[in-house]
Amino acid sequence: MLVSCFKMTKSGVLFTLITLSFCYLAFAFEPAPLQDFCVAETNSSARVNGLACKNPMLVEANDFFFSGLHITGNTSNSVGSKVTPVTVAQLTGLNTLGISMARIDYAPWGINPPHTHPRASEILTVLEGSLHVGFVTSNPDNRLITKVLQKGDVFVFPVGLVHFQHNVGYGHAVAIAALSSQNPGVITIANAVFGSNPPIASEVLAKAFRVDKNVVDQLQSKF
Ligand SMILES: *[C@@H]1O[C@H](CO)[C@@H](O)[C@H](O)[C@H]1NC(C)=O
Ligand SMILES: *[C@@H]1O[C@H](CO)[C@@H](O)[C@H](O)[C@H]1NC(C)=O
Repeated sequence: MLVSCFKMTKSGVLFTLITLSFCYLAFAFEPAPLQDFCVAETNSSARVNGLACKNPMLVEANDFFFSGLHITGNTSNSVGSKVTPVTVAQLTGLNTLGISMARIDYAPWGINPPHTHPRASEILTVLEGSLHVGFVTSNPDNRLITKVLQKGDVFVFPVGLVHFQHNVGYGHAVAIAALSSQNPGVITIANAVFGSNPPIASEVLAKAFRVDKNVVDQLQSKF
């Protein structure tokens, strides 16, 4: 968070309002670029917060280009959904820009299982079908905020919160999501908790989930 204020102090509401108009507030999770672009040089051994920049003289249009979001994702899997990401890993021109996107396909009744993006908020719009979506607020409330979206509807999942989508229609559904990081990261809750490598001790998970150890063993065996 960056807060800079060029004019301050003295009392009076009006003066305060005028003063506020001179204040500049910016909130960002990724630093603002200090150059026009920094196309990722993915094979560079230099390590920065992001990826090293390709020589600007060698940069070309294809560095800012990705093709493929017209292709329907293969949803023949246990959750019935497929995410096609377009992050800095697929589009090197996104390096340092703080944005990315994804296409998500859903089979009938398919889910994008509960997950979080540690580095990004997500704004999602439905292109086809109906999606039941939701996110859960932090402890201690853990309030579920949920809604059924139709084609053209938009919903936002705040950074870091556990969220999901569920196709509640009989047909295929498609959504496009935009994310506020070039590299949002994904932590799928079930995989991280029951499918870690090596596994979390079942005694730990049995206590955490208040179930018998054999229930934990069964869940771990699925991942
Ligand atoms: C990275 O790869 C490109 C093309 O494959 C090459 O031109 C460039 O020299 C490489 N850069 C480094 C730092 O190895
Ligand atoms: C979709 O994925 C399934 C499971 O991996 C595979 O068997 C099937 O061939 C794939 N279908 C297409 C059209 O690629």
